[in-house]
Amino acid sequence: MRVLVFGASGLLGKALMPKWCGDEVTGLSSRDVDIRNANRVHELVQQERADWIVLAAAYTDVDGCESNRELAFAVNRDGAVNVGKAARSAGAGLLFLSSDYVFDGTKTTPYEADDSRDPRSVYGKTKAEAEVRLLDLNPEFCVVRTSWLFGTGGKCFPDTILRLAASRPALDVVNDQRGCPTYAEDLADAIIRLCRKNAGGIVHATNGGDCTWFEFAQRIVAIAGMNTEVRSVSTQQMVRPAPRPAYSVLSPKSLHSFAIEMPAWQDAIERYMKQRSCHD
Ligand SMILES: NC(=O)c1ccc[n+]([C@@H]2O[C@H](COP(=O)([O-])OP(=O)(O)OC[C@H]3O[C@@H](n4cnc5c(N)ncnc54)[C@H](OP(=O)(O)O)[C@@H]3O)[C@@H](O)[C@H]2O)c1
Repeated sequence: MRVLVFGASGLLGKALMPKWCGDEVTGLSSRDVDIRNANRVHELVQQERADWIVLAAAYTDVDGCESNRELAFAVNRDGAVNVGKAARSAGAGLLFLSSDYVFDGTKTTPYEADDSRDPRSVYGKTKAEAEVRLLDLNPEFCVVRTSWLFGTGGKCFPDTILRLAASRPALDVVNDQRGCPTYAEDLADAIIRLCRKNAGGIVHATNGGDCTWFEFAQRIVAIAGMNTEVRSVSTQQMVRPAPRPAYSVLSPKSLHSFAIEMPAWQDAIERYMKQRSCHD
């Protein structure tokens, strides 16, 4: 199988590339191609003759999207459509990475793949519109929604917590947003398996279980054996430019329907901390 990965230099891409053995995989960053350039995307996809395209390239600065709305839509929606059109004309499968931020966060039970989208942030809107346009282009395309991604390949929440905990006696972390932390390594495994199974439609792929950011931070500090106090605060006390869903737990049913299961987040964060210490 020939595979083309857009966003290979990102947090997820860096976990995905070395894992994907046994297939011919080409990874691209924004230096190789800007997905806003439809002609260049088309040309590259034709040239690579890929069977599968993984679209992990995106403008992922959630707060930045609020003040750079045009750029956010140009990359995350229009860029995704450029890749989708190129995939369709080349007859390739497409796996598009989307987000829990397509939901409004008002539910209190896990979001199913067919729950209706109602994004509140600009970032969430760009992803929701991209999902709709891609599935209009080809309902067989695969939309993989994930959340709270962490890994050694880039900036992430555990990394920030460890850095801050090293220099402060106490940290304030929001305790009224609940979601699913997801280790890039585990998501990469799931993506490879989904492509090999020719998956299509909307799939939720996160580590198992859920927690608040506060609970996640507590666990990170505990595993690191640090004495830093983690204090529970509310979203209202930590105002940020982009609204975040209060509850964005994604149900694993759609993933289980492909006979794929991801480990619990508690197990994932332990492995991340071990891997991180090897990198230090
Ligand atoms: N991080 C999360 O918590 C999270 C949660 C849910 C969903 N997701 C989704 O998962 C996917 C992977 O996220 P990530 O955290 O790995 O992202 P990331 O670390 O921010 O990496 C983004 C990637 O996209 C590339 N890129 C950005 N703009 C581009 C453009 N105009 N043209 C071509 N490539 C461009 C970057 O290339 P350069 O390195 O050259 O800039 C980089 O390879 C994204 O679709 C994201 O929306 C992420």
